[in-house]
Amino acid sequence: MQTITTPKLLYALLITLALLLSGCQNRAMDLEQVGEDERIVIKFSHVVSELTPKGLAARRFAELVHERTDGLVEVQVYPNSQLYMDGEEVDALINNNVQMIAPATAKMTEFFPELLLFDLPFLFEDFEQVHRYIDSEGGEKLLDKFQTDNMLSLTMWDNGFKVMTANRPLYTPDDFAGLRFRIMPSRVLEAQFAQLGAQTRDMPFSDVYAALERGTVNAAENPPSNLYSKRFYMVQEHLTVSNHGYLGYLVLTNQTFWQGLPEDIREILEETLAEVTQWERKIAAEQNKRDLERIINSGEIEVHYLSEAEKAAWREALMPVHQMFLPDIGTELLQGTP
Ligand code: LMR
Repeated sequence: MQTITTPKLLYALLITLALLLSGCQNRAMDLEQVGEDERIVIKFSHVVSELTPKGLAARRFAELVHERTDGLVEVQVYPNSQLYMDGEEVDALINNNVQMIAPATAKMTEFFPELLLFDLPFLFEDFEQVHRYIDSEGGEKLLDKFQTDNMLSLTMWDNGFKVMTANRPLYTPDDFAGLRFRIMPSRVLEAQFAQLGAQTRDMPFSDVYAALERGTVNAAENPPSNLYSKRFYMVQEHLTVSNHGYLGYLVLTNQTFWQGLPEDIREILEETLAEVTQWERKIAAEQNKRDLERIINSGEIEVHYLSEAEKAAWREALMPVHQMFLPDIGTELLQGTP
């Protein structure tokens, strides 16, 4: 057997080192060689704070995509309406000024009236029912429908169940009379409050705090994660835990952009998005529970949990809204709901 002399060993070590270094250099060179124009940039614009289910999911998506594409794809997340606010972000997507948005389904009902389904009061009792519907054949068919004006729907994310806030206690349907609610631009939400004798004003999310503070509106509905992160509870006196409606998001992309991506990259993005969607579902429930506790512990607002009897009275008062929108939504889609 040939003995390995020191010079030979040194030589072999040097070669190995050189190979290793050149490998790193190649990757670095690859990345370095990935010029700015080769890097794929996805601008993801949204209107809520980062510490919300949507904010956290967008950030996680960006981190995982960066990791899995070795930095070739950069997802730049713009929260808090930094880049585009409600009413602007859809056009920005259609014109490819941004490549991803995740508006509440309520804000897309003009484009896709079937989405009005998700605004129906007391349609879903809990997240499990929502997920069972979204993951069902009917739910998948629904999602596939959402392609128009160069927009393509990728998945749905949760926020949570809405509670009511106002400057007076809300226990019975009669307590709503004459209040001015801020709503998202959905005909179902308009009808919901009209049914209770309240007025409505749809406005961008980024304007809500100031409008409540100034009294332009004196009531609102939102899941606790939005109420807490935007401190709406600081400018309202009463909160009723009603869980009367679900707020979810449609994650959308620009169709030309998405279909123009290299196939392997698109696969990584779609797989990562599917994974983040499952993760997001878990944190959405936790985040809303935690934020409701934080609001209660702040002592800044009077909190009332609807009793079963009170909830039954609300449900009865609001059920006619379901009938009103049957023609827009269609019985077929409603059949799959609880
Ligand atoms: C709202 O406008 O109240 C919400 O849709 C904001 C959001 O994206 O959660």
